[in-house]
Amino acid sequence: MVEVGGIRLRNPVLLAPMEDVTALPMRRIAKQIANPGLMFTEFVSAMAIHYKAAKTYKKLRVHPEERPLGIQIFGGVPEIMAETARIAESFGPEIIDINMGCWVPKVCKTGSGAALLKDPDRAAEIVAAVVNAVKIPVTVKVRAGWDYSLFAAPDLARRFQDAGAQMITLHARFAKQGFEGEADWNLIREMRDAVRVPLIGNGDVKEPADAIRMLQETGADGVMVGRAAISNPWRLRDIVRAVEAFQSGQPWTNELSVPTMRERIETALEHIRLMIAYEAGVDTYAEADGDKDAEGRACRALRGQIPIYIKGEPGAGAVRGRLTLCSTFGEYEDVLMEFASSVSAG
Ligand SMILES: Cc1cc2nc3c(=O)[nH]c(=O)nc-3n(C[C@H](O)[C@H](O)[C@H](O)COP(=O)(O)O)c2cc1C
Repeated sequence: MVEVGGIRLRNPVLLAPMEDVTALPMRRIAKQIANPGLMFTEFVSAMAIHYKAAKTYKKLRVHPEERPLGIQIFGGVPEIMAETARIAESFGPEIIDINMGCWVPKVCKTGSGAALLKDPDRAAEIVAAVVNAVKIPVTVKVRAGWDYSLFAAPDLARRFQDAGAQMITLHARFAKQGFEGEADWNLIREMRDAVRVPLIGNGDVKEPADAIRMLQETGADGVMVGRAAISNPWRLRDIVRAVEAFQSGQPWTNELSVPTMRERIETALEHIRLMIAYEAGVDTYAEADGDKDAEGRACRALRGQIPIYIKGEPGAGAVRGRLTLCSTFGEYEDVLMEFASSVSAG
């Protein structure tokens, strides 16, 4: 059983923080269908919170159904990170997570994200400042190091643990790699003994067998799943179920659920409805009450994700272009329903 500073996770499968993906609506769907042990918000800029950007504040919203939840924050200035952690805590998450994995230049050039892997003193100072600022557990998500010349994560993780971090997640790639190549799970195994707190492995877990193999080969306490869960809560559920079975000594299977077309389309439409509610600052679509601005923002924000719900179905490629132009719920509904009936007719 993974325990993070006294919070017991019902299973050791974690939904990864993903910018523009793991917003509240996606998490509510992932929770209902897959029920992972812990989920995270997308990363939240400490600087943007400091300057009171409304768009960023919205990312801090927590829904009672999605617990336990970690809010992930990023920044390079200890005092501002501490201030943001306090504000984030007031929104009621179970955990504050610190991002030290984001490799994109706009983040790293501010000394945040993976840039901290090159500055261990500042990184440890940030962890200590955040731990001291809040009452809830603080965790850190790192990459292996900046580039191949230094596997920095084990030493950093030890320092973070000394500063009070209660869990470390390792995305087993170096920052310079971006998403290239395969994640090197040996790095997770090599890091295992560096820390006493739970160690979560991350990188390229795509199906149940990957998750079990990661647990077996690396000694990690849990696995974090990112891309495989995008618009595919069923895959996340397959992984959760297999890991639960594996851990309780039951037989597990690598069989992948095949949701029906109806399930996929209903879930995609529900995702859009929840996104409209989210953009309108309310909990349900009904409460959004035809807020056209919210609807437009929500529909545009999901243009990358909705097509993935039907990916792989014959003919899905042909409607992809139309889905990426939808600006209203009705437009999405028309394209998806038309697609469903063309598939069932074919
Ligand atoms: C679209 C996208 C957005 C991401 N945003 C974040 C983020 O906000 N914070 C973070 O720590 N990692 C972020 N990541 C990295 C993931 O959390 C994860 O470490 C990475 O995708 C590897 O896991 P996977 O192979 O299961 O996808 C993002 C990844 C993707 C694909």
